[in-house]
Amino acid sequence: MSISDKDFDQLRDFIYNICGMYFHSTKKYFLESRLARRMEATGTKTHMDYYQLLKTLKGAEELKFLMDEITTNETYFFRNVPQLNALETKLLPEIVEAKNKMGFRKLRIWSAGSSSGEEAYTLSMILLEKRATLLKDWIIEIVGTDINETVISQAKEGVYSAYSVRNIPDLYKRKYIRDEKGKFILSPEVKKFVTFNKLNLYDDSKMIFMKSFDFIFCANVLIYFDTASKSKVVQHFYNNLQPYGYFFVGQSESLHGVNDKFKTVHFPGGFTYKK
Ligand SMILES: C[S@@+](CC[C@H](N)C(=O)[O-])C[C@H]1O[C@@H](n2cnc3c(N)ncnc32)[C@H](O)[C@@H]1O
Repeated sequence: MSISDKDFDQLRDFIYNICGMYFHSTKKYFLESRLARRMEATGTKTHMDYYQLLKTLKGAEELKFLMDEITTNETYFFRNVPQLNALETKLLPEIVEAKNKMGFRKLRIWSAGSSSGEEAYTLSMILLEKRATLLKDWIIEIVGTDINETVISQAKEGVYSAYSVRNIPDLYKRKYIRDEKGKFILSPEVKKFVTFNKLNLYDDSKMIFMKSFDFIFCANVLIYFDTASKSKVVQHFYNNLQPYGYFFVGQSESLHGVNDKFKTVHFPGGFTYKK
């Protein structure tokens, strides 16, 4: 069933108010096809019946399924190599030195919008390699969060496809991944530092508890938001970052027009943000 402009606006606004994702009218067909699947699964006949269902008590359960349908979860290991190189060679040593001086030997990293966990586990592998040197005796906490519960379950499992692992350098692949008939299984060592939880980045009541991170990654997530919802979420990242911490976005993203408090720090092949 094709969606009327009025119903599209109503459902688009409902979704926006829940999670900050904004479906421009050019995305009408995408939303329509995803809604059609949920309408079939729930036996709702019209878009407004489905909208009413979302607003009932049972709606919370249905919302999970809707989020699974409308989020784009594309990700893979070692996605942004210049960023990872800068972290490893410059930003991490700098933060370790600053924290050593203060007597803090704990590193906290957040992969916000982690999808199935590849970004968080990439960071875990890189930090594992520093375990005998720079990060000797350090406590490492990597937190991955996402609104989509299906990808969070996949992340916890830690089993990946050939596509997902294709960019992992051989050194890391040999040490931390086991190939079991085309299923790529992460070693427990890599999983040890990482926890995954469901979190809606647009939920202020939950965001205020995500405290004291040294590095926050929110890559390829805010591209689905509009300027107002981006600003709101980025302000939380700003508040939840340590004074010397860094905030990373995806390769083609920037905070231009979204937040003017963060300072830009350039590195070969890209840039990051600092408080
Ligand atoms: C394209 S993936 C990015 C994965 C990873 N950060 C990367 O760059 O490879 C975007 C993820 O953001 C999540 N997402 C979208 N809106 C969200 C929200 N309001 N709260 C939490 N996660 C959200 C989606 O479920 C999806 O898994």
